[in-house]
Amino acid sequence: MKKLVVGNWKMHGSRAFNAELINGLKAADLGATAPRASVAVCPPFVYLGEVAAALQGSGIAVGSQDVSVQAQGAYTGEVAGPMLSDLGVKYAIVGHSERRSYHTESDQLVADKAKAALAHGLTPIVCVGETLAEREADQTEAVVARQLQAVIDTLGGDLSRIVVAYEPVWAIGTGKTASPEQAQAVHAFLRARLTAASASAASVPLLYGGSVKPDNAAQLFAQPDIDGGLIGGAALKAADFAAIARAA
Ligand code: PGA
Repeated sequence: MKKLVVGNWKMHGSRAFNAELINGLKAADLGATAPRASVAVCPPFVYLGEVAAALQGSGIAVGSQDVSVQAQGAYTGEVAGPMLSDLGVKYAIVGHSERRSYHTESDQLVADKAKAALAHGLTPIVCVGETLAEREADQTEAVVARQLQAVIDTLGGDLSRIVVAYEPVWAIGTGKTASPEQAQAVHAFLRARLTAASASAASVPLLYGGSVKPDNAAQLFAQPDIDGGLIGGAALKAADFAAIARAA
């Protein structure tokens, strides 16, 4: 399967910072990785239009970090799927652990957001992952299965156009990466759940996220069920992000 490497800028950036980062990414010629890996970046909403315009022709796609379940209306502060597709946005991250914890997003809300993204021509990147306490209590599979099941139930048979990102919460921004074996084990579990739910899910890309860096990316991406990465901190440095994309 072709790899997918996505940068999640989170709430970082400014117009000047973004311009410099984009120049660095363009200079790294990530379009050249195109036969092996697709690359995308997910800036904050306010910069999406500008970043999408700046990346035109570079071969790097743009994604959002969230999307509303509503298509339009009186929902102050929300951003709707049609607005994102209107800007040329391709992906929408949904259910990132920071949104699940700081914004108390439920499994069902995340699933509804995935459905809304699909309805408006966006590819949802559905994040799942366990906390350290859950891993230590041997709950990893139960937690990711529950998070994934809401999406499976809500989307019905139509699983062919989603991306799933396994992001163990304890590995996000902590410098503690899941070992390639730990990540592979959960990815194989997710793959099995997806294919059991629908034949159309066999080709769903499964990304790993959580302290992916240039020096651990190749080993992670070499695992049979790891189809790419969702990159946080390292996506803010052009050289690091480019190195990770090249590792794919
Ligand atoms: P990190 O973040 O690479 O900084 O750990 C990953 C993510 O949260 O998507």
